[in-house]
Amino acid sequence: MIDKEHQNRGYGREALRLGIRSLADRFGAKEIYTAYESSSSVARDLYRSFGFRETGEAAGNDVEMRPALDGARKS
Ligand SMILES: CC(C)(COP(=O)(O)OP(=O)(O)OC[C@H]1O[C@@H](n2cnc3c(N)ncnc32)[C@H](O)[C@@H]1OP(=O)(O)O)[C@@H](O)C(=O)NCCC(=O)NCCS
Repeated sequence: MIDKEHQNRGYGREALRLGIRSLADRFGAKEIYTAYESSSSVARDLYRSFGFRETGEAAGNDVEMRPALDGARKS
């Protein structure tokens, strides 16, 4: 989560890029799951740009997504 005063400056995208890389390179993750609040189109679109797609599962307002690691956007 990025502090409200610092959103829309590229921090979320960079944090997600580094997080995915770290999980894959340091921990050998083959799959990563995340979720977005159904009201957050910014989070949904950010995850989608990295190759995350909805799995069809949801818990309350949280919509689950799963990417293909090699589908991650190179940025
Ligand atoms: C969602 C969140 C993590 C994104 O982080 P961020 O640092 O604000 O986002 P970035 O600046 O890296 O921008 C990522 C993309 O979102 C877009 N974006 C960011 N804030 C936006 C806004 N308020 N309105 C429209 N688009 C926005 C950017 O244009 C960018 O799109 P692009 O890369 O296709 O050009 C952050 O806004 C946040 O923590 N929001 C509140 C909590 C939340 O919703 N968390 C996620 C719950 S699942």
